[in-house]
Amino acid sequence: MKRKVTKAIFPVAGLGTRFLPATKSIPKEIMTLVDRPLIQYAIDEARAAGIKEFIFVTSRGKGALEDYFDHSPVLEQELRKKGKDALLETLKMTNMDSGAIAYIRQHKALGLGHAVWCARRLLDPKEPFAVILPDDVIAADKPCLQQMVEAYEEIGGSMVAAMEVPDDKVSSYGVLDIKEDMGAYVSAKGMVEKPAPGTEPSNLAVIGRYILSPNVMKNLNQMKAGAGGEIQLTDAIADEIESDRGVYGYRFSGQRFDCGSKAGFLQATIAFGLSRPELHDELQEYLDTLSSIRTAAQ
Ligand code: G1P
Repeated sequence: MKRKVTKAIFPVAGLGTRFLPATKSIPKEIMTLVDRPLIQYAIDEARAAGIKEFIFVTSRGKGALEDYFDHSPVLEQELRKKGKDALLETLKMTNMDSGAIAYIRQHKALGLGHAVWCARRLLDPKEPFAVILPDDVIAADKPCLQQMVEAYEEIGGSMVAAMEVPDDKVSSYGVLDIKEDMGAYVSAKGMVEKPAPGTEPSNLAVIGRYILSPNVMKNLNQMKAGAGGEIQLTDAIADEIESDRGVYGYRFSGQRFDCGSKAGFLQATIAFGLSRPELHDELQEYLDTLSSIRTAAQ
């Protein structure tokens, strides 16, 4: 019987330099899409997938993340006094059961694989675990990690979220070399992090959702430096391919936004704004105005 996935690692130690100067004093994961920080979307997705323990791999300057998931007695008292029940309800999504969330520091920026390895003592050595990269925001009817947990219960092994990307973008990702294509998922015969342009084994890119065999953590113990001189999670997963457990790429359904880039972040802001009934009409009207101005200018 396959074990349940109950723990997820959130690597949130990055400096977020692409969003400077904003990220000089706020963690990038606290930047908001409409009114929720990126990290809230990641946590909601994990909860929907049945995750019970949340492990944040942080670094200096990420205190705002810890505060965000804590109770705020003064604010709550004030809202209660004013009878603002709806807002009090909204705040509940930011609360965690005591002990359900853990923070661990990555002291040196040695790569994503190293960040995940930093959480090793908080995991059960026999249990699979999930990894969520909060930069990748995925809008889906059924949250992406939940789709993957369901597929994992059938297939097992180690599983990464996967999506076809255009030729000129492939080399920015981890890329799967496909052994067998089953449609909804593929089995992998290779996996390479940021392949040099022209050497990509396929267009099927790894997106920031993973369900990993505990063996991947053992592979990370070897601390092999890979692409960009960093310890890559992709390499530790690729080491599993030869095992009888296997590695799979899961083609999730949903719309993925690369919120690590400014253009992706803006697109996500518009898409999530439009999905809010209270904002939809006003925002849509504005977008229509913009496109009619553009048409007139042409
Ligand atoms: C990371 C992973 C990469 C993956 C990507 C998805 O790269 O290393 O394999 O394809 O996330 O967003 P990064 O975007 O941190 O360079």
